[in-house]
Amino acid sequence: MANLLAVKPLSSLKQEAGEEGEHTLRRSLGPVNLITLGIGAIIGAGIFVLTGQAAALHAGPAVALSFIIAGITCAFAGLCYAEFASIIPIAGSAYTYGYATLGELVAWIIGWDLVLEYAFGAATVASGWSGYLLSLLEQIGLTPSASLARFTTTHGNVLYLYHNQWQPGPSLPMDVATTGLPQVTGVFNIIAFLAILGITAILVIGIKESANLNSAIVMVKLGVVGVFLVLGVNFLVHHPALLKANWHPFIPPHQGPGAFGIQGIVAGASSVFFAYIGFDAVSTAAQEAKNPQRDMPIGILGSLVVCTILYILVSLTLTGLVSYRELNVAQPVALGIDVTGVTWGSLLVKIGAVFGLGTVMLVMLLGQSRVFFSMSRDGLLPKWASAIHPKFRTPWISNIVVGTIVAFLPALLPIDKLAALVNMGTLLAFSIVCAGVWILRVRHPDLERPFRTPMVPVVPILGVLSAFYLMVNLPLLTWEVVIVWLIVGLVIYFTYSTKHSKVQQLSVATTRSR
Ligand code: ALA
Repeated sequence: MANLLAVKPLSSLKQEAGEEGEHTLRRSLGPVNLITLGIGAIIGAGIFVLTGQAAALHAGPAVALSFIIAGITCAFAGLCYAEFASIIPIAGSAYTYGYATLGELVAWIIGWDLVLEYAFGAATVASGWSGYLLSLLEQIGLTPSASLARFTTTHGNVLYLYHNQWQPGPSLPMDVATTGLPQVTGVFNIIAFLAILGITAILVIGIKESANLNSAIVMVKLGVVGVFLVLGVNFLVHHPALLKANWHPFIPPHQGPGAFGIQGIVAGASSVFFAYIGFDAVSTAAQEAKNPQRDMPIGILGSLVVCTILYILVSLTLTGLVSYRELNVAQPVALGIDVTGVTWGSLLVKIGAVFGLGTVMLVMLLGQSRVFFSMSRDGLLPKWASAIHPKFRTPWISNIVVGTIVAFLPALLPIDKLAALVNMGTLLAFSIVCAGVWILRVRHPDLERPFRTPMVPVVPILGVLSAFYLMVNLPLLTWEVVIVWLIVGLVIYFTYSTKHSKVQQLSVATTRSR
């Protein structure tokens, strides 16, 4: 009978963290690489798309407060991730932390659950990315014909041709009727499919190359956000009446479930939570960090702080430039920059989004392959998932298998369903990591902790409660899909993993030798 509570000894985790040689990942990332890795994963569809929707439908200008609430929830989890990443600096992230504290079954559940965050996260962003790329191409006059347009959007998604641009219904101005407009129904999103395959190829070639490319693109992304802030704030300083009108009332009166008032701010926080997802992906690269004990907390918390500040500034500027009522569009930041009268602005924002969402996919897929790598090294997944390419020193088979499967998701499934699954998977991982920090403090109080989460157990408890609160606010369908997903995972665990688990074999050998 398998010991479902078998814990992976910290001594063997530390030994794995210290291994070097051609069958290991290359240690090449410094603190700046790690912060940019985090920013690369965090700033994406959230800021470029969701800010507008959350302001228009939930919080009004007070969406900035929604960002603060979601940021605080992530800060609790970020502090717990930082402690774990400094103690156990190896590749598996929350999966490994779970294995060291809560036992093998919970570790398996969390590893399987992280697929929902990373693989489905990359798929969700690929879907948004294809929308931005299409819009960018159309802005420079490359509008596809109807027969081609059917292959630029997710299966079943309807696009309408308006002003020579293919757009989904909700992106059309409110006074435009869809009847009479040329329309197509999506068959297979080839743009998103190829995006995932392209990023997979980059990941196979190497972590150093991936990190360098990521750093370059993060600079482009931050540059675009910076240009938006400079142009927007400058415009508002010279047009204070516009700011006053758009920010009044700052918290619009409550209008029904989840709409405005205090409740709307909280609903907005559940929605913009997606914008923060990714800082934890830094911890999946722990085995590739040069000095993980010191640099993992810097990477995780540094990227979270930078992005929280930017989100608050962008949401305040955006709702100052455009009335929140008009922000439910696919490219709200581009709309905001249009108000400043700078004609090249929206083109710049679209270019920034195309590159920016690219790095989000990159880090998510990187994280996914590293989690499978760790699970396979522990014997819970087949050996191919941890096979390292002799020249590139990357888990190349894992990258290719994951990338190929993930590529089909945005091509065939709608973005909102994918996004809800990502939120659920991430929140579950956050709550297990928070609980794990507390458990490890009780079980191993004397362990060397290069970074210590402050105020334990208050911070972990608040982390679990806030994650759970956001989870109960997710749609019922998401819960159903996640339960089915976990059942499939458990079937694999009991039919394969328990028989091949190295920790199980070790505990059987230890028992026999007694
Ligand atoms: N935080 C990432 C984004 O906003 C997932 O796209």
